[in-house]
Amino acid sequence: MSYFENENVDELQKKFGILGKSADVQSMLATIEQVAPTDISVLIAGESGSGKELVASALHKHSMRTHKPFVIVNCGAIPAGIIESELFGHKKGSFTGAQSDRKGYFQSADGGTIFLDEIGETPLETQVKLLRVLEQGEFLPVGSSSSVRVDVRIIAASNRDLQKEVEEGTFRKDLYYRLKAITIQVPSLRDRAVDIPILAEKFAKDCAVRNQILFKGFSEGAYQAMSQHRWPGNIRELKNFIESLVILEKGGVIKTETVIRYLKADTPNDTQNPLLPVKLDRSVDQAERELILQQLFMLRREVAEMKTTLENGIPHQSGHSQSNDEYHPAMEVLPEDDENDVVNNDNPPILNPQMMGSLTAAQVEKELILRSLQRFNFNKRKTAQALEMAERTLYRKIKEYGIAKET
Ligand SMILES: Nc1ncnc2c1ncn2[C@@H]1O[C@H](COP(=O)(O)OP(=O)(O)O)[C@@H](O)[C@H]1O
Ligand SMILES: [Mg+2]
Repeated sequence: MSYFENENVDELQKKFGILGKSADVQSMLATIEQVAPTDISVLIAGESGSGKELVASALHKHSMRTHKPFVIVNCGAIPAGIIESELFGHKKGSFTGAQSDRKGYFQSADGGTIFLDEIGETPLETQVKLLRVLEQGEFLPVGSSSSVRVDVRIIAASNRDLQKEVEEGTFRKDLYYRLKAITIQVPSLRDRAVDIPILAEKFAKDCAVRNQILFKGFSEGAYQAMSQHRWPGNIRELKNFIESLVILEKGGVIKTETVIRYLKADTPNDTQNPLLPVKLDRSVDQAERELILQQLFMLRREVAEMKTTLENGIPHQSGHSQSNDEYHPAMEVLPEDDENDVVNNDNPPILNPQMMGSLTAAQVEKELILRSLQRFNFNKRKTAQALEMAERTLYRKIKEYGIAKET
C-alpha cells in the first residue's frame, strides 16, 4: 500500500522537502513558512538525525538570500584553539602558522546565511563574539584591530538542552536569550511515528531508483513494527535502516517478520522483544555511539561486498542469514570490561569473521575509536564516556594504535 501517493500530500511538505503529516511537523512547517523570508535569526533544537540541517537549508532556500552562500559550520568539529580563526578569519602573523590573511566563514557567508550547527559546543569566549555579530553584524578577525561588517543571517542548531547548559554555566545566557526568540523544535521520530510510513516509503523508493532495484512496498505490519522502534538516531537512522532493507531484501514486498528480524539485530539485548516499548534511559551520547557503530558496520559491509565482488568477478548476491547478522548488532565490538584486551589475537574475535571481511578486530576498534574521537572533537573524556571505556584505557589505545589528530 502506498501512503505517499494516495494521500493528498501537503503543499508545504513538497515546498520544503520536509516530510510528515504529524501535528508537530505541520506546525513546524508553518513556522518555517513564516520565518523563512525574514532575516530573523533562528535556533533549531532537536535530537541528532531529526532533520535540523534540513530545516536550516529550507529556511535559507526560501529566503531572499537563496542565491547567496549557505555556509554550514559544524562547531563541534572544530578544535577550540582554531574556532575563532575559522569563524572570523585572521590577520597574517597573528599566530604561528598564520602566513597570510584568511577570511573566516562569516565573510564567506556575506549576503547569505550561516548555519552554526552544534552551537552548544563553542567555547564561552567565542560565544561573546557570536553575540556581537548577532547584535551588531560585526566582528574582529583574529589579530586585527579593525572590525569587519557582514550581512549574514544566522541560524543555529543544537542537540543539547541549551537552557540546562545556561544553568550549568557552559552556555552564555545572553547569547541563549538572543537566539531562542525564534526556536524551531524538531520533533524526535519516536514522537511522531505516524510519519514513519511516508518517510520509509520515500527513502525506499529513492534508494530503489538510485540502485536500479525493485521495491514493491512494505506490508502494513512492517510499518507497525517500525513504529514501535525507538529510533535513537531519528530520521538518519530510519533512512539507513530502510536503505539496507531495500538493498538486502530486493524484490518482494517487505514483510513484518523481515522488519522485526532486522530491528532485532539492531537491539543489543537479545532477550528484549523489539515490539515491547523500548527502554527510555538511553542518553544522547549513547545514541551517538550507536550511530557511530552503525556507520562502522555499514562501512564494514561495503568493504566486505566489494571484496566479494572483486574475488568472484560477479555482483555479490546477498545471503540473508549473513546479511542479517551484518546489520549492526554493534554493541558487541566493545570490551565488556574496561581492562579487557579485545585486541588480543589469541582470543577468538568477538565478531563473526564473515562480518569482518579482511579487517581484524584491532583494525575495527581503531576505526571506531578514531571516528568517536572525531565525533567528539578529540575530547577524550566524552569519547571514553560514549565508548563506555575508562579514560585511561582510551589513552592507552590511542597510543597503541598510533591515532593522531591529523589522521
Ligand atoms: N522531515 C524529513 N523528511 C525527509 N527527510 C528528512 C526529514 N528530516 C530529516 N530528513 C533526512 O534525514 C537525514 C538527517 O537529517 P539532518 O537534517 O542531517 O539531521 P540533524 O541535522 O538534526 O542531525 C538527512 O538525510 C535528511 O535529509
Ligand atoms: Mg546535523
